[in-house]
Amino acid sequence: MKKCDDKTSTCDKEELRPIIIATNLFKQYHGSPTQALQGLNLSVKEGEFFGLLGPNGSGKTTTISILCGLISQTSGDVEIAGKHIPGHLNAIKPLIGLVPQDIALYPTLTFVENLRFLGQLYGLPSSLLRERIDQCIEIAGLKNFTKKAIKTFSGGMKRRANLAAGLLHQPRILFLDEPTVNVDPQSRNVIFEILQKLNEKGTTIIYSTHYLEEAQQLCHRVAIIEQGRSLCQDTPQNLINNTAGSRDLGDVFITLTGRHLRD
Ligand SMILES: Nc1ncnc2c1ncn2[C@@H]1O[C@H](COP(=O)(O)OP(=O)(O)O)[C@@H](O)[C@H]1O
Ligand SMILES: [Mg+2]
Repeated sequence: MKKCDDKTSTCDKEELRPIIIATNLFKQYHGSPTQALQGLNLSVKEGEFFGLLGPNGSGKTTTISILCGLISQTSGDVEIAGKHIPGHLNAIKPLIGLVPQDIALYPTLTFVENLRFLGQLYGLPSSLLRERIDQCIEIAGLKNFTKKAIKTFSGGMKRRANLAAGLLHQPRILFLDEPTVNVDPQSRNVIFEILQKLNEKGTTIIYSTHYLEEAQQLCHRVAIIEQGRSLCQDTPQNLINNTAGSRDLGDVFITLTGRHLRD
């Protein structure tokens, strides 16, 4: 794949205004004494494969949920494709796809029934929906399983099906929240290939993970998130080069926080 440290990189787009700008985001969940986000800043350029890297509880899901408009920030500004949310959420919705951490499919329905149902929710006309369903099944590599109930799928197959469901409306920006947790290595590689192909065709990808090897392998740039703040944002290689004694993003994280990413 093309990465920022590659001279031919697709993310050499300094001149473009970022497609996502989050400024000074705070989030306090109702009834919670603490802030899940504490002044988080983020900037993602169109066409980037961007990683949100942080340990459990650092605020990755909260950030993605705000950027997708599922929940509102307590304060701070979010601009997506030049529009502010939550105010202009309806204008943003068709642009974004979300592949959530938990499988968002009906277990008793077949794979194709799930896609048909979700496509109808998106309001896709039936002939276009049939075409998109075929494409998504192909992308997920699940052609032989379309008539099987989701509950019969392996963990990896469920993840691929979940991903396919997020692609039906061909979003310009795709958010994926820890898409490889509990996934076998073969399905993980299939997911990586799918995402890299989508990204090469122009889809902006925001990918949260606590697996730093994945972030290092896949992402043009990453933000390292800790306790609701982004500690830094750059290409993995720049972060490693600019942090004394670091050989990988794990070392960068230890230097910045004094603890391991998996603590
Ligand atoms: N619905 C909620 N109500 C109260 N606190 C929450 C809720 N969701 C998340 N949190 C808290 O917010 C912080 C960030 O959580 P989260 O965004 O899920 O982190 P991550 O996705 O990085 O694991 C954690 O301290 C978590 O306990
Ligand atoms: Mg999470």
